[in-house]
Amino acid sequence: MIAPSPLDTLKHHLNTLIADALRSATGITEVNANVITASKPEYGDYQANGVMALAKQLKTNPRELAREVVGELEKTNTALVERYEIAGPGFINIYLSDALLIDRANAILNKPDQLIPLTQLPQCIVVDYSSPNLAKEMHVGHLRGTIIGDSLVRVLERLGHRIIRQNHVGDWGTQFGMLIAHLQEITAEQGDLPVRLADLEEFYKAAKDHFDSDTEFAATARNSVVKLQSGDAAYLAIWEQFIDESMRHCEAVYAKLNVTLTRADLDAESRYNDKLANIVDVLDTQGLLTESAGAKVVFLPEFMGKDDAPLPVIIKKSDGGYLYSTTDLAAIEYRSETLKADRSLYVVDVRQSLHFQQVFAVARAAGLAADSLSLEHIAYGTMMGKDGRPFKTRSGDAVKLVELLDEAIRRAYALVSKKNPGLDEMQKQQIAEKVGIAAVKYADLSKNRTSDYIFDWSTMLAFEGNTAPYLMYAYARIKSILRKQDGGAASTRLDQVTEPEERELLVKILQLPEVVQAVARDCYPNQLSNYLYELAGSFMRFYEACPILKAEDAVRDSRLALSSLVAEALNQGLELLGIKTLEQM
Ligand code: ARG
Repeated sequence: MIAPSPLDTLKHHLNTLIADALRSATGITEVNANVITASKPEYGDYQANGVMALAKQLKTNPRELAREVVGELEKTNTALVERYEIAGPGFINIYLSDALLIDRANAILNKPDQLIPLTQLPQCIVVDYSSPNLAKEMHVGHLRGTIIGDSLVRVLERLGHRIIRQNHVGDWGTQFGMLIAHLQEITAEQGDLPVRLADLEEFYKAAKDHFDSDTEFAATARNSVVKLQSGDAAYLAIWEQFIDESMRHCEAVYAKLNVTLTRADLDAESRYNDKLANIVDVLDTQGLLTESAGAKVVFLPEFMGKDDAPLPVIIKKSDGGYLYSTTDLAAIEYRSETLKADRSLYVVDVRQSLHFQQVFAVARAAGLAADSLSLEHIAYGTMMGKDGRPFKTRSGDAVKLVELLDEAIRRAYALVSKKNPGLDEMQKQQIAEKVGIAAVKYADLSKNRTSDYIFDWSTMLAFEGNTAPYLMYAYARIKSILRKQDGGAASTRLDQVTEPEERELLVKILQLPEVVQAVARDCYPNQLSNYLYELAGSFMRFYEACPILKAEDAVRDSRLALSSLVAEALNQGLELLGIKTLEQM
């Protein structure tokens, strides 16, 4: 064996095996076996595509080289592979051995935790997600970041990485002066703070109207910002109460969504206030700072605007105020120097791409981020309505997240009642809560995150297609089959795979960790949802082709074991998407 495997998966072992053979056959040390899951069953279980590039490099015939490589492979004694086959211009098709597959299945049947093994190279990974602005209530614009971030955190954590969640909430800046001033003015009226802020959105609108229509109030509001930013105790106290109340609104959303963020994960913008002057100093010492129209800015050659004019990153405004970018620079320094992260992920709207490119570049140029720290903007597109326009209420307002989630539960309730009218009230309600929330999350997680996506109740709540209800139903169905066997104890031995559908299903199950690893690397949760959808499809094909309970003893036990493995894979996979399964639906 060579270097410790980052993750003990079939694909990893094949890559190692083929790479060794490529080295022996060519004498070249830098090789890439390029093993992928076979694109068609007639190409085997996996295919190695690395021969062609090497043949090109050596200016030799790729099929010839493939023959030599397979010759090397056949000399190595491995339990993993049954046979190799050369195809097309030099592909190597790989057929895994049934015995090996069965062995792996049995190991997992005894220890379901090992379905997804731990990484041997754990990293410290910061994940900045959700991060709403606390001046307003969470609205649909925060849904995607919250859901995608939550899933990534679950995936990375599951592989054994150390995760530091950072909810970089916007809790500072000029709007808060306005909100405090408005709060002070209406304080004379009845009601304590939670009551007055019960509807944050309304409160924000009222304050804004007040600000826009009353110049005297606008002046008071501006003065409040100054007071707040200079650390006036009375103003800070009101601000803190406001933030606290606003966070309570967020927490209600997190709880409904089954999202793991807590107060301990807060990394509010205000936390960096006293670090900002130092950021300016660092940039200055590094010779990166330029004065432009009274403001302090950084110009980097890689950022040119229209007309080839360089694009400035503003660090400090002419009035002395700092910007969103300045805070992010301070946060990068903290994540690098103090948290010592290996990766720092920012799950933020794609419209902030330029912001992150600039901030990352400035941080690198100024040495605020260690070279070893990987800075990654995990961008996502806008949530659209069925009309193809950004999702809004009928009156054009932002849709509050709490209301959207409540509607999801209501709609799921109607669906469940129709599908299964015999259930009692409490069961229906419990199922509706899980299915409704799962539908919203899954609809988002099953799309490529970088594209805009269309939020559509009827597709996300359908029992057919790549949806949460479909997968949850598939899981519940397998569980009900397992319950029907004598005694109800799950079979824990797989002795044979006879039919092709059984084998296909088994290989698919064993591929879960490869998919999870890809999600951890590239941060596209839709790879996992697509996999789960295919897995459910493999199960359905198996179920149609292979009788389970009616089969004779040995076959029946193996099929039951296989079914319990699928259930395990579905359950663990959905868990990584933040979706709770149901034993019965
Ligand atoms: N609060 C910001 C917004 O709502 C998102 C913050 C994202 N994180 C960051 N480190 N900039 O747009």
